[in-house]
Amino acid sequence: MSVLFPKIPALLHGGDYNPDQWLDRPDILEEDIKMMKKAGVNTATVGVFSWSTLEPQEGNFQFGWLHDIIDKLYENGIYTVLATPTGARPAWMDEKYPSVLRVEKDGRRNHHSGRHNHCMSSLEYRSLVEKMDTKLAQEFGNHPGLILWHISNEFGGECYCENCKKRFQEYLREKYHNNIEELNKQWWTSFWSRRFDSFEQIEPPYDNGEHSILGLNLDWKRFNSWNMKDYLAFERRILKKYTPQVPATANFMKLFEQLDYVDLAKEIDIISWDGYPSWNNDYETPADTAAELSFDHTVMRSLKKDKPFMLMESTPSLVNWHSFNKLKRPGILRASSIQTIGCGSDTVQYFQWRKGRGAAEQFHGAVVDHLGRDDTRVFKEVSEVGEILKKLAPVTGSKVTSKAAVLFDWSNRWAIKDMQGMARDTKNYEKEVRKFYNIHLKKGINADIVFPLEDLSSYSLVVLPMYYAVSKEAGEWLKEYVKNGGTVVATYLTAYVNENTLAYLGGFPGAGLGEVFGLYAEELDTLYPTDSNSVLMKDGNKALVKDYCELIKLTGAEVLGTYESDFYAGMPAVTVHSYGKGKAYYIGTRMEEADLIKFFTPIWSECGIKEKELPEGVEYLTRTAEDGSTFDFYVNYNATPATVQLAKDGTNLLNGEAVSGKVEILPFNAVVVK
Ligand code: GLA
Repeated sequence: MSVLFPKIPALLHGGDYNPDQWLDRPDILEEDIKMMKKAGVNTATVGVFSWSTLEPQEGNFQFGWLHDIIDKLYENGIYTVLATPTGARPAWMDEKYPSVLRVEKDGRRNHHSGRHNHCMSSLEYRSLVEKMDTKLAQEFGNHPGLILWHISNEFGGECYCENCKKRFQEYLREKYHNNIEELNKQWWTSFWSRRFDSFEQIEPPYDNGEHSILGLNLDWKRFNSWNMKDYLAFERRILKKYTPQVPATANFMKLFEQLDYVDLAKEIDIISWDGYPSWNNDYETPADTAAELSFDHTVMRSLKKDKPFMLMESTPSLVNWHSFNKLKRPGILRASSIQTIGCGSDTVQYFQWRKGRGAAEQFHGAVVDHLGRDDTRVFKEVSEVGEILKKLAPVTGSKVTSKAAVLFDWSNRWAIKDMQGMARDTKNYEKEVRKFYNIHLKKGINADIVFPLEDLSSYSLVVLPMYYAVSKEAGEWLKEYVKNGGTVVATYLTAYVNENTLAYLGGFPGAGLGEVFGLYAEELDTLYPTDSNSVLMKDGNKALVKDYCELIKLTGAEVLGTYESDFYAGMPAVTVHSYGKGKAYYIGTRMEEADLIKFFTPIWSECGIKEKELPEGVEYLTRTAEDGSTFDFYVNYNATPATVQLAKDGTNLLNGEAVSGKVEILPFNAVVVK
């Protein structure tokens, strides 16, 4: 079992708690504890933005209030996730040390403001952080209530200051072995006379600066992510020095664009993230929203596949920053919380416990409203989740195992986005990855997300949607996988460029993958949104295709489907090729979900992957404990009851009753079979 917190081997329920906003109201602080117990809360995340209360003037540390809070929580059975307060700075700091302030893309330094806006490279900032984190670790590191460090908050953004520019140049110098000609070659700088003579000439892509060198743009993205990781590692080192026994996390965000979470994950012990789907919107069903949430959970779970992850923040009701801040409809919190556990999280946590009276988030949802009562709809729904999590306790520490995987890669994402070509609005890399995940979810198949170069030996099927920027090393990695018996399904746009965006010569896919797929793509056609084509499959199925059509020439692959119209009618669109002990499928065009499911059905069966018929709007998720026992989650996202055929008989953990055969699941409810 991979129980995250041996001190509390249960599912965690709680969330961000900001008592520093209420220090003049001891009555409210007392009330908080009573209400937390009533709501089944066993954890509180404290101190996320408390710097100005912890150190009101430089060097004047005030930890008394925090001791009182953590003690009181612990006495009442509530454990603390303690944040370093470095996500926002006090005014004295910005006044005295302007280098801590970020410089924007237009070259202007920010004024004292907001949060999440310090310069990651600032040595002055790091020195102030070191003092704060050292004190925090010394004061609270041995507190029996402390279970986890929460480093800063939601890392993100960029800084374009002189210091960051120099660090970027040093980063490049190291990457290109102090050889500017190597950089010139990889960045193709003879184009538009962009050649550099020295690393010192290179600038970040300022608003009014260089944007035409795609290799530079990509390396800047990588640098920014690396610099953030370097900062995260710096904070973690301080905490580890004094509290090696306490794990650390940093709360991630939904498929966040700017940071390569695969890389950042190396510097944290437990993955946690903040999920805020737009439930009950006017463009999709709750089941569609839930499917996207499953994908997001799966990305997070996949960042550390050997243990559960944490849902660090979610709203119990509404947020204040969507375009339309709608209330979560009754039942959504219950269904999504059970789904969260089914996807491999061992926590359901909220932002936040109690609504503040003022400032930007005063009307953001919270467990306790300005009303202050414990009989509100939201409070009751949260308490119900507390009860449910107690019933689901046997799931704690179990894992999600998968035989199928879908590849996602941040560098690939950045490269596709920046690539000048195709269509501006329909590249949709993220959406396509999700589509391939979704067809598995719809068929009750747990699929992992995999990242380049990771061990693929436990998967019988790996899907590679739009894997455009592929290094030679990654090409080798996939080749080996197929050679040893793995099955891959790749799509149009595979291996056009290397990891620095240089196009491969001699036919796509490059990186040595042409021989794996037994083909080359001679041209890529981009369709207008009102255009379409269709593919006639060998088995008689017809698939409507949109957006992109590759014109494929065969060098050994077998044709599984051909285009039906346009000047490439009759040409191959879908192929398969045996390579070593494995198989490599290629879909040269963009298909819809329903047709992909038809296409994958025989492949799943070949790969020994069992699918399951599910009613529309029902998710089936499974977790496996170390002793082999399994937990089957069936979550109904319909407003009407749904009947499912259980994969196995057992006990429904949610009510303790024996279940077998067909069961009915109530709206926005679930059955969890052990
Ligand atoms: C993020 C932050 C929180 C809060 C919430 C509001 O997740 O981490 O501090 O601002 O958003 O939704």
